[in-house]
Amino acid sequence: MSTTRTSTPRSVQTAARLRCIACGATPDSAAQDFRCIACGDLLELFFPGWTLDQQDGAEPRHHTDATALKALWLERRTSREELDQSGVWRFRELLPYIPNIEEHAITLREGNTPLYHLARCARAIGVENLRAKHQGMNPTASFKDTGMTFAASSAHQGGFKWVACASTGNTSASMAAYAARGNMHSLVLIPDGKISWGKLSQALDYGALTCQLRTDFDGCVSILNELVRQKPVYLLNSVNPYRIEGQKTAAIELMEQLGWEPPDHIIVPGGNLGNSSAIGKALVEMRELKLISRLPKLSIIQAEGANPFYRCVRELGGKKLEPKTLKPMTADTMATAIRIGNPASWKKALRVLQATGGEVEQVSEIEIAIAKAEIGADGIGCEPASAVTLAGLKKLRRSGFVKSGESVVLILTGHQLKDPDFTIQFHRGELFSEMPEAETAEAKRLQRAPVVLDANLGAVIAALDSADRDS
Ligand code: F0G
Repeated sequence: MSTTRTSTPRSVQTAARLRCIACGATPDSAAQDFRCIACGDLLELFFPGWTLDQQDGAEPRHHTDATALKALWLERRTSREELDQSGVWRFRELLPYIPNIEEHAITLREGNTPLYHLARCARAIGVENLRAKHQGMNPTASFKDTGMTFAASSAHQGGFKWVACASTGNTSASMAAYAARGNMHSLVLIPDGKISWGKLSQALDYGALTCQLRTDFDGCVSILNELVRQKPVYLLNSVNPYRIEGQKTAAIELMEQLGWEPPDHIIVPGGNLGNSSAIGKALVEMRELKLISRLPKLSIIQAEGANPFYRCVRELGGKKLEPKTLKPMTADTMATAIRIGNPASWKKALRVLQATGGEVEQVSEIEIAIAKAEIGADGIGCEPASAVTLAGLKKLRRSGFVKSGESVVLILTGHQLKDPDFTIQFHRGELFSEMPEAETAEAKRLQRAPVVLDANLGAVIAALDSADRDS
């Protein structure tokens, strides 16, 4: 589907192997459900060619040269080739090698997302340097596209006719688009009534077979896991380690945007915990390859009503123990993207917290709504699940975990127009039936309900003057 000019020699492209995160088994291929055949846990991809070779005290020997890679990736930004124009495939040296990639790559020029300063939010919270990496500026308007381009291409390479996912909405929108581009069929399982119209409409337009199941996201996942064991469909949820590989590139691109100088903190929303696992994996790998010299602390924020990971980590009481289980819960939050009670990738995410020294936080529905409006007031829109990052940052700042002089990057995961109902209800004051006094005042300061007026100039001028007095 594409040819590539600014290619690296085959020898430095990355042969990857599968490995179970629990028992360490290294199967040659993955089962349909991407679970370890020996112990049932998740698989990850690793790169034997990157192993450090320091036996005789010599410099570590890598497959890659950090300076040359940075120059190559920069050079590709001026290329007219499809793969080079993708903010995922541009970094293909850090991704597993897919044979005959020119034939199989499905790309919508994903990635290449902006990094914005959030000046007002920074002042209000008391941090000097606050930025947002907006993954909602991807082709289907969420971060899912970065993982989907890679995993859908691998499905294509495997000759699959059908791909499938369970989703709270964004994965399904993304998968349906990439499947359509790659001439594959897509099956979407979504919880009936619990995803936003914006996301549902995307899956329909991209031609997916969309099944709204009378259950929640976790119920959809169970049925899909059974299905892939019986039918030759390729699973595109984030248990698929190729999704995680593609999603790593958000962190690589971020470091490039920061001149390879890592921030002190990166803050991400936590749902099924694939994204935090991916960003963390990228950070650790980049440090191993000497692309960056230190690790930012990666913190994960959940909604109070969908907080199984928060509870699991807090129950450890800060001790660096590996819990055996995470207690699933029935999740409920208006941030429907992260309405997940049994996150698949919790062990991977826990490893990331421990490797980077990050924190975990939970935020209330009101805190999410206010944070979303504050990001909006900075001229940047996002969907509710993304706004947990700012709400979480406020708490981490209050607890002293984030200090005023430190630099912080929030990962905004989805576009504002994914869920306009939430935004309109907030501004009309219809989102909550009751609110504590302090929050009511805070919300009022941000709410901008539309004003209905008679069609005459005087009325508009009066509205303008009144708004001007209040500004
Ligand atoms: N933000 C948005 C906008 C999401 O859509 C999701 C997940 C997350 C955050 C959480 O990311 O699951 O990797 O921890 N949405 C999935 C979906 C589950 O089906 O679209 P995560």
